[in-house]
Amino acid sequence: MAARRLSGLIPRSLYLRSLSSSVGSRGQRSSLRSEVQRFSSAAALEELITPPVKVNYTQLLIDGKFVDSASGKTFPTLDPRTGEVIANVAEGDAEDINRAVSAARKAFDEGPWPKMTAYERSCIMLRFADLVEKHNDDIAALETWNNGKPYEQAAQVEVPGFARLFRYYAGWADKILGLTVPADGPYHVQTLHEPIGVAGQIIPWNFPLLMFAWKVGPALACGNTIVLKTAEQTPLTALYAAKLFLEAGLPPGVLNIVSGYGPTAGAALASHMDVDKIAFTGSTETGKIVQELAAKSNLKPVTLELGGKSPFIVCKDADVDKAVELAHFALFFNQGQCCCAGSRTFVHESVHDEFLEKARARAQKRSVGDPFQKGIEQGPQIDSEQFEKILRYIKSGVESNATLECGGDRLGSKGYYIQPTIFSNVKDDMLIAQDEIFGPVQTILKFKEVGDVIKRANATRYGLAAGVFTQNIDTANTLSRGLRAGTVWVNCFDVFDAAIPFGGYKMSGVGREKGIYSLNNYLQVKAVVTKLKNPAWL
Ligand code: NAI
Ligand code: MG
Repeated sequence: MAARRLSGLIPRSLYLRSLSSSVGSRGQRSSLRSEVQRFSSAAALEELITPPVKVNYTQLLIDGKFVDSASGKTFPTLDPRTGEVIANVAEGDAEDINRAVSAARKAFDEGPWPKMTAYERSCIMLRFADLVEKHNDDIAALETWNNGKPYEQAAQVEVPGFARLFRYYAGWADKILGLTVPADGPYHVQTLHEPIGVAGQIIPWNFPLLMFAWKVGPALACGNTIVLKTAEQTPLTALYAAKLFLEAGLPPGVLNIVSGYGPTAGAALASHMDVDKIAFTGSTETGKIVQELAAKSNLKPVTLELGGKSPFIVCKDADVDKAVELAHFALFFNQGQCCCAGSRTFVHESVHDEFLEKARARAQKRSVGDPFQKGIEQGPQIDSEQFEKILRYIKSGVESNATLECGGDRLGSKGYYIQPTIFSNVKDDMLIAQDEIFGPVQTILKFKEVGDVIKRANATRYGLAAGVFTQNIDTANTLSRGLRAGTVWVNCFDVFDAAIPFGGYKMSGVGREKGIYSLNNYLQVKAVVTKLKNPAWL
């Protein structure tokens, strides 16, 4: 089976040879099979597929134009399959953030965007979504090249999801309503929901397009202007999307994009006196810095979407095969690089052993390889820093005496591929059960009572998401109310419809994104109190 799953990776002749060589005694077969897996993966990783797209946009977008950075500096953006340079990209720093904020300020104070009708704004966003659809495959290829995620996933899920987010928020633009307030006295009182102004947005590299949409969509719908700082690892798709926005008719200065590093460009944006709001997605550590910079400068409101250590709870009545598949997806999706990854798999003791055996078999079957290859489930991790961090956590798991069920090492000799890894016998206080690993490492813990698993699931500084797998409605209700998390998925996971709010309890964040909830992040409420000439008309 391992050989069959990997067949798409290797030249057909090698594949047939490996299949015929795997006939023999059971012991022989399994050792041959691991040889085959090692050999075929390594061979596949040597043969790179050329990305079917060109890099056309590498400059900063300021005031509707692609420009070099003020310093003239560039930085290399890398292909995670090899660590080699894809392109050199303009490196923005504090000076470029100043330029971008001035453009956004001017576009907000003097430009047409906040003043045009909401319907006109909505039409531009819809035109953009149409253009994204037209360029679906190029955008997906660029995302895969720069991020390492499987192309099929980028092309079939992420780019369509990106367009969908903009359509959803285009729909909101002319439905943002104020209230008429029945105050005491001879007054007509109304609230106006006005755009907040210049929004600063800092996004990470794990879902470059979706993070762009979660931030830019609601901000535009509400009539704001934007300075977006992309992650230094993945600047390319945002610049491509920016070009499409200009084509769709977005006025200059409404959306400005600065590629660059966190401590320079990111920090300058968070502490800028002329930025009216900052939204951030990334690590809890950096989220604290962003909040501090906002507080120390002009007290701009902050929304934060941060790390997680989400439980995935498999109850005793679970259909084990389905639970294994869903728990596998909950953790391994996107190379394990999800803030909401189901990274603590709690399994009821009555099904634990069967679950473990099947989970191991599933992980061993996972097809890892060049993300441009058809049928690939897992590509490389984003960069050497993340790659090293994950390997350190795997080492820590082994040293703390968790049982390494499978994986545990890199795959191939170049790029940032990691074997799908599972630990069992994991205890709550182990580092691998407490920290965000952000990689393809599943930790499996055993539980007895629902009440007890709620306490254990909640015993973390995070509270982003949780998964519950059960056929019992009472158990589902008990768990979904007891878990302190911003999202509880029952018998599903990673359902990310544009309308569903997302965000964290505890140190997983501040505020909510997506859905109706995100609009409040980008609005000011103005109370207009007008004295009535003839109160009797009330
Ligand atoms: P990070 O939080 O440092 O970076 C995210 C964004 O913040 C990037 O655009 C970065 O340039 C910017 N940034 C970094 N330092 C900054 C500063 N001082 N001021 C303003 N902006 C700054 O995350 P990083 O270093 O890429 O990854 C570290 C860990 O964070 C990962 O291993 C993972 O555990 C977690 N992470 C969580 C994500 C999530 O979706 N919640 C996404 C990415 C990482
Ligand atoms: Mg960082």
